[in-house]
Amino acid sequence: MNYGTQLGDPAKVQNQCVLVGVYENNQMTPSATAIDQASDGYLKKVLDRGDIKGKAEQQLLLHDVPNVSAARVLVVGLGKQESLDAAKFKLVARAVAGRLKSLQAKQVLCCLAEAAVADKDLAWKLRRMIEQFADGLYKYTDMKGSGRKPDEAKNESQVETIEFLLASDQEAQAAAAAISRGAALVAGLAAAKDLGNTPGNVCHPTYIADKAKQLAKDYPSISTQVLDESKLKELGMGAFLSVSQGSTQPGKMIVMTHKGGKEGAKPHILVGKGITFDSGGISLKPGAGMHEMIFDMCGAASVLGAMTAIGEQKLPLNVIGVIVAAENMPSGNASRPGDIVTSLSGQTIEILNTDAEGRLVLCDALTYIDRFKPETVVDIATLTGACVVALGNHASGLYANDEALAADLLAAGEDSLDRAWRMPLWDEYQKQIDSAFADIANVGGREAGSVTAACFLARFTKKYRWAHLDIAGTAWRGNGPNKGATGRPVSLLVDYLNNLVAA
Ligand code: BES
Ligand code: MN
Ligand code: ZN
Repeated sequence: MNYGTQLGDPAKVQNQCVLVGVYENNQMTPSATAIDQASDGYLKKVLDRGDIKGKAEQQLLLHDVPNVSAARVLVVGLGKQESLDAAKFKLVARAVAGRLKSLQAKQVLCCLAEAAVADKDLAWKLRRMIEQFADGLYKYTDMKGSGRKPDEAKNESQVETIEFLLASDQEAQAAAAAISRGAALVAGLAAAKDLGNTPGNVCHPTYIADKAKQLAKDYPSISTQVLDESKLKELGMGAFLSVSQGSTQPGKMIVMTHKGGKEGAKPHILVGKGITFDSGGISLKPGAGMHEMIFDMCGAASVLGAMTAIGEQKLPLNVIGVIVAAENMPSGNASRPGDIVTSLSGQTIEILNTDAEGRLVLCDALTYIDRFKPETVVDIATLTGACVVALGNHASGLYANDEALAADLLAAGEDSLDRAWRMPLWDEYQKQIDSAFADIANVGGREAGSVTAACFLARFTKKYRWAHLDIAGTAWRGNGPNKGATGRPVSLLVDYLNNLVAA
């Protein structure tokens, strides 16, 4: 998809489809008024018939509106003018994306940015529209057989170019910046979704490592280093290796370094859980729904996605993306419940449940990265089913040992509508993961399962400002027509990093 801007009268701009907004009770936006005036009241006449009432997400496609250059006018309901807020604007953009799928136009002129959205500027509106349009049109088709591809292609959108109508030339610079940032975000989201959706037999740790190496080829600011199991053993990453040892797929730790900031400026580090398939190991998961555990690498995918976006943006900040990639399988080599391993930190861990593997791979990476002297560290993980019980699909669970970092992440989530919700990390919870035999147990019982998982990680992150995002509920949608990786929390992360630059 190409994006651009336009100035002038929407009735006169050469285009194949014009998108204009109307508020509830068909109150017209300036562009709708322009269309109505050019057509001598035609638009008002049609709207008065009541087939659309301007409610948010309602749409009406008109053809051959008199005296309008474009063959089509898509009237888009925006809801009540005074209550058009960020969340509603996102829903409207999403609904438009649904219509774009079957629209037989290559060029679209979008006049929706003129609608005032509470607390949001033009750049935000353009970014969010680009994001929602791309998300609505995204489809994972890599695994469709070659015989079916032409059919699949038929369902894809015909739209090639979307131009946003601006109120004046003075908006052009801000709009261009917003469009390129929006396009970078969309590239990052697509990378995260593609990797997330790739099945476990294809997307194994080596596959992710290859994607990370490709990233370094695509973006000159990024370099990638891959540490294999022999290196991890030499380092002493016993917790990580206890997970990968059960699989025939070798585990990898992947380090992607984006040098965008000043030489020597401390890096911001993202760490992603990349379990390419989580069977549970010897503590095997029940069969029903186990296939969803191909998505257990969505934390890693979000790190790759965020690195893609900031590489594309050439973001002036030093950022390191770390991925711990392993497969959790039962086998004769797999670790047993009751095994005790030594982590890179020196702390010993009693593995009471081999299905609590995410924290085992993450803890060694979180110890390893201390050598980079991070400014901040954020890990992203599909860590616990308990987090899904607590927050459902709407918010990622946020834990942090630093108030300012927590506030920054919450704000970025709020602004991007990729929201997180703060959870407690109180010391009182820590005793649930004390172990009789080792320094720590890898599970803390049924109660507060998402909290005790975060408490486990907290024992490895004392030396720096750290936050943890439990994305078990937000990273993908299960079975159904919308099945697949959501790309979350790439939007949150990319906004967070951009805000750091702006500050
Ligand atoms: N990857 C899972 C968490 C998960 C489960 C995410 C369901 C999304 C949906 C993680 O490795 C896991 O198995 N966690 C266990 C921890 C338990 C053994 C303490 C869980 O949540 O049941
Ligand atoms: Mn597990
Ligand atoms: Zn897992």
